[in-house]
Formats: sequence, C-alpha cells, structure tokens
Amino acid sequence: MTLTPVPRIAVVVVAAGSGTRLRGGAPKAFVGLDARSILHRSLLGVFGGPSAQVVVVVPDGYEGDALTDARDAAGPAADLVTIVTGGATRQDSVAAGVSALRADIEIVLVHDAARALTPSAVFERVVAAVDAGAAAVIPTVPVVDTIKRVDHTGRVVEGVDRSELAAAQTPQGFRRDVLAAALASAEADHTDDAALVSAAGHDVVTVAGDAIAFKITTGADLERARSLMQVSPVASSSEPSAPVFRVGIGTDVHGFGGEGALWLAGLEWPGERALSGHSDGDAVAHAIVDALLAAAGLGDIGTHFGTDRPEFAGAHAEAFLAHTVELLRDAGWRVGNVSVQVQANRPRFAARRTEAEQALSAALGGVAVSVSATTTDGLGFTGRTEGVAAFATALVIAV
Ligand code: CTP
Ligand code: MG
Repeated sequence: MTLTPVPRIAVVVVAAGSGTRLRGGAPKAFVGLDARSILHRSLLGVFGGPSAQVVVVVPDGYEGDALTDARDAAGPAADLVTIVTGGATRQDSVAAGVSALRADIEIVLVHDAARALTPSAVFERVVAAVDAGAAAVIPTVPVVDTIKRVDHTGRVVEGVDRSELAAAQTPQGFRRDVLAAALASAEADHTDDAALVSAAGHDVVTVAGDAIAFKITTGADLERARSLMQVSPVASSSEPSAPVFRVGIGTDVHGFGGEGALWLAGLEWPGERALSGHSDGDAVAHAIVDALLAAAGLGDIGTHFGTDRPEFAGAHAEAFLAHTVELLRDAGWRVGNVSVQVQANRPRFAARRTEAEQALSAALGGVAVSVSATTTDGLGFTGRTEGVAAFATALVIAV
C-alpha cells in the first residue's frame, strides 16, 4: 500500500447518534440510503474534498461496520481513516474524535454524518476560509421562510427579521488549537461546535453552505435524500436513472437614472448612479431570474414578479432569487449552476467580482455562480454609459 502524504487537515465525522427521530432500525448513520449507508454517502463527499485525516466517530459496537464503509469510500486514501467510539452527547463525540487527531493536524472540520449529500465544494470553502485567517468558520444558507417568535401556548409573540438569520450547517472548520481549547474548557453542552467556540470568545465567520447539505432527521428527509440521489450523478453509488438537466438563458437591461443608491449583482455600490426600474433595477439578478425560469419552463420574470406584485417594488436581488428558487423547487427543480456576464462601463466589477458571486450564490441557497464583466469598446448604450446589460445562463436539475 502506498502511503498518502501527511495531511494538515482533519475531518471529524460524527456518526455516533442513535437516530431516535428517524427510527430506521439502526443508528442513523448506518441506515441504508442507496445500496450503502448514510455514513458511506457522507464519506464520499468528505474524501472528494481536501486531503485529510478522516476520524469517524461511531456508536459502541459499530466500529467494524464503519471501517468497511470508510475504506470503501476512501479508495486509495484508506490509510487516512481512524475509527473511534463516540460519547453520550454530540459534543462528547466531537471530543472523542479530536482526541484521535494526528500530531501534524492544524485545521479541524467537524461534520455531521447525517448531512449525507454535502458536496465536497463546501469542505473546500470552509478550509479556504480557515486558511485565510479565520479561527472558526461555518457554512450557512439563507432562511427562506418567514419566521415568528411563539410562546409556549403557540401564540405568535412577534415576527423576526429573516435578513438577520442564517441556517447553520456542517462541516464547521476551526484552527485545531482553538477547537481543542474550547472543548477542554467547555462548561455547557452546545448544539454545534461554533456555539462552543463562540462561548470561548472567538469570532465565527460564514461561507456559503448548500441546500442539498440538509440534515437527515426524519423519515421524510430520508426519502428526499433518496430521491435527490436519483438525479445527482455524484450522489449515488448504485445504478441511478438518467438525470434530467435543462438550460435556460435570460437577459436584462436597465438605464441609469433611478433614485438612491446603485444595486447591482446583489450588492450596493455607494457613490455610483442608480439604475431605474420597478424594483431596484438590478439587471444582473433579473437576467438570472429569467434564465432560471426559462430553464425550468416556468415563464419569465413578468409572469411572477410583474408590476402587479407590489411586494417586489424596491426589492433587492436576494428577494427575487430566493423566491425564484422556491418556484423552481415547487415545480420539482433544483439549480445546478448559474453564469452571468455584465456589460457596463460602470460600476467596475474587478474588485468586487468574488463578493458579487458570494452574494448571488447565498441568495440562491449556495449554488455555484460565476460573474464576469466586460465593456463594449465605447460602442452602444453601455459604451455611452447610459445603462447596464446582463446576460445569464442557468442549469437546472430535476429533483
Ligand atoms: N451525534 C454523535 N454523538 C451523539 C449524538 C449525535 O456523534 N451522542 C451525531 C449524529 O450521529 C449526527 C450528528 O451528531 O450525525 C447530528 O445529530 P442528530 O442529527 O441529532 O442525530 P441523532 O442524535 O443520531 O438523531 P436523534 O436526535 O433523532 O436521535
Ligand atoms: Mg440528536
């Protein structure tokens, strides 16, 4: 056997829960998803990510089953697998995993085995943020439902502004010293590792998660995961039926001359002239909406966001894109990826291109978005700086 290079990253996969809500006849991670277990599928995502020591934390008595799953998922990286027995709470299980880290490990990701369909790209994003200097990083997705605070009788006390909320996922990434110290000094049992590290006084930053990284908790979640694996080619190790893909195109143009600040590509651009339009005139977001609706065969932006929808007057990209994702989901589609190009003299995108991609990606629930920008050599209305044009393509996948 060839030994893989010594990694500086470790992923602790916690799989030691009992799965009382799933009631799957075995501890949750060992319940079948396709021909293999939930744990096996989770580990395919882990091993598709950065090279890492993978510590799998399992219930007492399941060490052998876990080793079989982990070796199969690891392929040539099988020597990077460590199996340990978990504890009574999730935090105890995390501590058991951390105690099995090799000496060279500098960055630790903690991942719920129950988030079986988490794409490898999420692992890459979390590691990149820790590498960029963060002590603690969590992947999040926007909250799309309207949220209410309710009292113990079930009466609504107040609404909660969802723009301030985000749903936390795993893998959560930490500098090893930070996580180990927080575990050693823990005074309470926390529901996730970010809460533990935050209680120890560290800032926690976010990166885009992915809607498909939902946690399998109930029987309905298990069914959803199974059905998604039918259309996601990377998601299944059994024989999948042919996935159904559709592409769409959308364009939009807005002229300068609106009120207030410029909003474009989901970002505010202080000091730039605003675009005019029924909403904020964000031509980039509107082109993406049209591309997504076209791909799914759901009409166009006027069908769903016309001037007869006063709630979208003045709305920003986030509201348009989140509602579009809901429309697609209701029709049985999820978004694969989006690519958009802006033609404009102003604003200059170079310095904020990545920020725009992150904002648009977050609004779409974490899917990959590429933004490019170009000028038109002084020709046409964009060349005369009269307005902005945007061209988008989108891929959607049947769920
Ligand atoms: N977990 C763990 N050790 C525990 C409890 C939970 O490793 N003592 C893991 C689970 O295996 C799961 C993750 O933590 O991957 C998130 O927990 P949850 O979804 O609540 O799973 P369970 O505790 O197994 O499910 P339930 O709460 O329905 O019993
Ligand atoms: Mg639990």
